[in-house]
Amino acid sequence: MEWNDRVIKKLLGKKLSFLGMLDNYLSCSLLLFPMIFDPITLCNMDLQNRFVRSATHESMAEKDGKPTSKLGNLYKELAKNDVGVIITGFSYVLPSGQSVIYQQGIYDDRFIEPYMKITEMVHRYRSKIVLQIVHGGRQAAISEKYPVPMAPSEIKDELSGVVPREMTEQEILEVIEAFTKAAIRAKKAGFDGLQLHCAHGFLLSNFISPYTNRRTDRWGSSIENRARIVTEIVRRIKEQAGADFPILVKLNVTDGFQQGSQKADIGINISQVLQTAKFLEKTGVCSIEVSGGISEAGKVTVKTAINSC
Ligand SMILES: Cc1cc2nc3c(=O)[nH]c(=O)nc-3n(C[C@H](O)[C@H](O)[C@H](O)COP(=O)(O)O)c2cc1C
Repeated sequence: MEWNDRVIKKLLGKKLSFLGMLDNYLSCSLLLFPMIFDPITLCNMDLQNRFVRSATHESMAEKDGKPTSKLGNLYKELAKNDVGVIITGFSYVLPSGQSVIYQQGIYDDRFIEPYMKITEMVHRYRSKIVLQIVHGGRQAAISEKYPVPMAPSEIKDELSGVVPREMTEQEILEVIEAFTKAAIRAKKAGFDGLQLHCAHGFLLSNFISPYTNRRTDRWGSSIENRARIVTEIVRRIKEQAGADFPILVKLNVTDGFQQGSQKADIGINISQVLQTAKFLEKTGVCSIEVSGGISEAGKVTVKTAINSC
């Protein structure tokens, strides 16, 4: 109890208001990880502490994906309150890869300048900021211009009823190029690194999971082939944006279907995830954030309550 009080005082002293309620979960985390206030070097980034703001879509961009000053102010608040590293909300690398309205984009050079204002503001405090990049894939929004989402295979999403179309080799190469260009823009805009969104049922996780990837070409079947789109993106970014530009990954460890169900049996499992992680590490990914769930499996990633320890 006394220890808890001390920690809470330290938190308040640090003005960590972004944490919101000092709930059970937080107290447990602090008990388990007292080193959370200590500096650390992660992916070449010198962090003042170990608080990571996991990517969270803020709905604060303009309709075309341009980041707004409102979004910048949110990151500024996080930086002012000593978050070690802020990971932005998911930012789409091609207009066809947008999933939700007011999502931020990074598909065009005109976004470099507004992002630059944001990174400069964050760096005035001692926080680092990493841009999370994504293509919506099977979970991309349907619009007049993009009536059918693209994915590795034509597997119907039984929750939304959407049947995506199978991508051609050419489209896969274009997506790799789009991620690479997005990385170059992110570096020019002053981001400290990138996080590739390989979780939650978006395009890169569609490739990694055997549930959504039934291809038999070099982009499917084996674990190495299913991870190839990601390892190719990493390889190209290293070539084009520099080997030292940090590339982090957010990776699903499960699709989130009920254990023992047919879908869970077909889907990704832990031993496949471990092998995928090894491929990613070998290609130069410097950090893996684990997560889980795709939208077809229900609200796995956005539960309304947090378990206490
Ligand atoms: C409102 C909201 C928006 C989110 N947006 C993103 C996002 O843009 N990118 C992402 O990777 N995760 C996003 N998430 C998921 C969280 O970062 C986190 O992964 C999730 O809450 C589950 O935690 P876990 O990954 O530790 O299981 C979002 C979650 C919520 C509640």
